[in-house]
Amino acid sequence: MKLKFTTTFKILFSKLLPDSEKLRYLFWLPKLHTFHRKHGRHGAVLSSRKQLYKYINNYISNQAITYCEFGVFQGDSIRYWTRINNHNNSSFFGFDTFSGLPESWNNFTGGLEKGTFDTQGQVPDIDDARVVFHKGLFQDTFPDFLLGYLSDKLLVINIDADLYSSTLFVLTMGHRILKKGSIIIFDEFSSVLHEFRAFEDYCAAYGVSFEVVAYTKSSKSYYAHVAVQIL
Ligand SMILES: C[S@@+](CC[C@H](N)C(=O)[O-])C[C@H]1O[C@@H](n2cnc3c(N)ncnc32)[C@H](O)[C@@H]1O
Repeated sequence: MKLKFTTTFKILFSKLLPDSEKLRYLFWLPKLHTFHRKHGRHGAVLSSRKQLYKYINNYISNQAITYCEFGVFQGDSIRYWTRINNHNNSSFFGFDTFSGLPESWNNFTGGLEKGTFDTQGQVPDIDDARVVFHKGLFQDTFPDFLLGYLSDKLLVINIDADLYSSTLFVLTMGHRILKKGSIIIFDEFSSVLHEFRAFEDYCAAYGVSFEVVAYTKSSKSYYAHVAVQIL
């Protein structure tokens, strides 16, 4: 009897409620609040992503790192990282199609079209021998990169790809090299159906524990840039 009741309700709701991205977004927002209450309380609160990058580099004592950035565009963040982390043995890898987003990105208030952030194949001009770019879809370039990955330096991953699919791919594929102490920085964590959802799904599937080291909070953004450390 109870089973019949539940099934009837499932059918009813699946027909009555709109299959709406906006509704999904609203339903996921409280999860971000729960995440913050559970993990974010002891993280440092900063007002911009550059401050957050600086904070993280001090937190890891400016040591030699392997820095992988997913979503480079014109190189704003990777360039900044090469300036703040001046260790000779650090390596900086930037991954991007350099032809823009491979699919459109939907957010509650709008979104971005496929192809946004197209640099016509131009990689950023960064005068630093420690920097290497990998042009193409992460799905094509990252597996090959991992085949030759031998680094025992601290890994810092900066994910600024906007999309759920891209973020989930990077996290699951990168799981092999994400060790205790590795840092992951998210750029659009408050876009709950994308980076946040991908991180939740990754942690659930791989049993990953972490702590929030720092996040941003300002009049313009709440919990957009978040840095976590793998435990
Ligand atoms: C917001 S932009 C990056 C901004 C950059 N970090 C900065 O500091 O200005 C997002 C980038 O992610 C890239 N991207 C997203 N998904 C990708 C994928 N699956 N493979 C390669 N590049 C991807 C897009 O091409 C785009 O340039």
